[in-house]
Amino acid sequence: MIEHRNPHESVMQQATAVAHPNIALVKYWGKADAAQNLPAVGSLSITVEGLATTTTVRFDTALDADRFRLAGREEPAMARRVSACLDELRRRAGSSLHAAVESGNDFPTAAGLASSASGFAALVVAADAALGAGLPRPELAELARRASGSAPRSLYGGFVELALADSGRRTECRQLLEPAAWPLAVAVAVTARGPKAVGSTAGMLASERSSPYYAAWVASSPADLAAARAAVAARDFEALAAVSEASCLAMHGVMLATRPGLVYWNGTTVACIHLVRGLRAAGVPVFFTIDAGPQLKAVCPPAALARVRHELAAVPGVERVLEGRLGEGARVVAG
Ligand code: ADP
Ligand code: DP6
Repeated sequence: MIEHRNPHESVMQQATAVAHPNIALVKYWGKADAAQNLPAVGSLSITVEGLATTTTVRFDTALDADRFRLAGREEPAMARRVSACLDELRRRAGSSLHAAVESGNDFPTAAGLASSASGFAALVVAADAALGAGLPRPELAELARRASGSAPRSLYGGFVELALADSGRRTECRQLLEPAAWPLAVAVAVTARGPKAVGSTAGMLASERSSPYYAAWVASSPADLAAARAAVAARDFEALAAVSEASCLAMHGVMLATRPGLVYWNGTTVACIHLVRGLRAAGVPVFFTIDAGPQLKAVCPPAALARVRHELAAVPGVERVLEGRLGEGARVVAG
């Protein structure tokens, strides 16, 4: 935390944090309690460096309201969600100061690349440091989870589980493996750049209301989580591939059966699915996962990354391929 005094005697407390997006291998889709943003299912993810959000939070006695800028532009719609998250942090830290928040994502926002996860993870870590609150990471994880269900997973590095606890009344986020313990790589095939038509929050509420497969999806999640947890503990790539693709496709089945149907894929996404499956059948260790957007994420050992990247880049419609390795959780970088 840095405390500054300017000539007008306003007091500023500032810190900057970096967070990486995470990619769920066992998916979160659905809320047990929308007001508390309590997920209906647990989830298991990998945190991916190579993509990053950097957020600076400045609490300032001279401000009479919170401000939020993304990539240098005021974003009033996003600011409400940021403010709500800061309110909870201020309540716990006993502060009433307003904040100016400056953030940047070095990858497309709201396009299925988990900007909400890295965005809120960076926000809570920077705001906590700026206030000098020193809240324990599980408390920061709860604050992040209330803002976005995927966000607490970006507070931790490597393989991470967000588990339901107390019969689903709360969540517990924990690291399962450090990045170096099983250093997988990720290639992201970007197939469209614009923001998705239906955001995750609205999409999952619509699925809960109208998808006939929703209840079966929720019921099937604990078995997928157990299989993925066991695969991670055993570093069993084949087993992780099987459960990850199954969880992804089941989630998209729930989405497709929502009324009106949520079709997050485009033709290129489908072409990439077939490519990845073809590569695996030919002996290349790789599997895919896709979130609420048209980008396909291919997970593989680092030795296979160059081949996977090259093959994805050659699929007509793939605009570019981003790559990353497993990375660390959100951290303070200045202040
Ligand atoms: P994505 O697939 O990128 O996570 P979502 O629609 O789930 O897409 O989430 C996008 C939302 O996340 C934005 O509308 C905004 O509310 C929030 N968000 C994105 N980037 C940031 C950021 N850097 N800081 C704070 N909030 C962010
Ligand atoms: C498909 O975390 O963005 O990426 O809690 O409403 O903010 P909110 O939803 P969000 O949903 C992520 C959905 C997903 C799967 C996942 O990351 O687990």
